[in-house]
Amino acid sequence: MKVALTFNVKKKDETLPLDYYSEFDSPETIEAISRALCAKGHTVDKIDVDDFAALSYFKKKRVDTVFNIAEGRSSRFRESAIPALLDSLDISYTGSGTFSLVLAMNKALTKKILLAEGIPTPAFQVFKNSTEELNKSLRFPLIVKPNYEGSAKGINKTSVVINKEALYNKVKETISLYKQEALVEEFIEGKELTVGILENGKTIILPVLEIDFLSCLKSGEYFYSWRMKEHQGNIDLGLTPTFYCPGRLDKETERQVKETALRTHHAVGCFGVSRTDIRLSRDNIPYVLEINPLPGLNPCESNLPFMAYAAGMKYEDLIEAILLSALEKKRLN
Ligand SMILES: Nc1ncnc2c1ncn2[C@@H]1O[C@H](COP(=O)(O)OP(=O)(O)OP(=O)(O)O)[C@@H](O)[C@H]1O
Ligand SMILES: [Mg+2]
Repeated sequence: MKVALTFNVKKKDETLPLDYYSEFDSPETIEAISRALCAKGHTVDKIDVDDFAALSYFKKKRVDTVFNIAEGRSSRFRESAIPALLDSLDISYTGSGTFSLVLAMNKALTKKILLAEGIPTPAFQVFKNSTEELNKSLRFPLIVKPNYEGSAKGINKTSVVINKEALYNKVKETISLYKQEALVEEFIEGKELTVGILENGKTIILPVLEIDFLSCLKSGEYFYSWRMKEHQGNIDLGLTPTFYCPGRLDKETERQVKETALRTHHAVGCFGVSRTDIRLSRDNIPYVLEINPLPGLNPCESNLPFMAYAAGMKYEDLIEAILLSALEKKRLN
């Protein structure tokens, strides 16, 4: 097939905040996906969607389908920008549709839907400003996150707060730096898990990945913060979490965790591929933190490829499985 690979690529700009480009993909990831598609016999056009002229490319419908990893540049609807354009031109693309991409970007709205579906998610409150009263039912420690970000942007050690003073300082900082509401959640102590789903005619729940931060404690980092994600594997910084895939779970817990991820995938209307982040509390409740309809696909660093390898898939197989989701979606529509 002739495939267009759409992306926003990471750029270097020292005048911008460190986490500014975190959501975007590295040139290595883009190359790896392109190579994998070619290895499966496809031809690939690489389309950097930041290059606005590139968008007119699609008007000529020169491809059979699009492998979309473009995170979008601005607004809380950014991940849906390219899919919306492709929908309007009737060109198929991998993964979820515009609605789910927008919904999953809004963590609080996603959580409301999960609660309505009876899927556990940490108790929370959204702060539009830092003068709002804290809901009395919320228990410290709490974590403060920007409501519309990914790639752990705005999430660091100081995001976990143990009293009101620290909470309000962090809420104020988050609203002013990220220009959006702050999502405040109960911090769930327990295992960090993430679950990948592939769906293209048949549904595959990949082996659960557990990320253990015990060996990172000396660094001061103890959860999947921005620093942890950005420097993962750096021995000098002590940011070397241990990955277990499948995670160290008993059979029944594993079943519940996988079922929770699949229900989340369906509740948000995701399609083709997703990665659901879960914290398993000490009393074994799988609390869903969020779902990622555009999970990272770096062959050496990203969580989803790790899970695929544990399932016996090669990187090329994973990319082909995601590509096929575009055709399946077209068939169903
Ligand atoms: N309520 C919580 N309880 C415990 N840990 C949490 C909670 N919320 C976030 N975290 C920690 O912060 C990390 C990042 O949070 P979250 O997944 O919400 O952010 P994100 O920026 O959307 O992540 P991603 O990089 O997966 O897109 C989690 O993987 C987890 O380690
Ligand atoms: Mg996450």
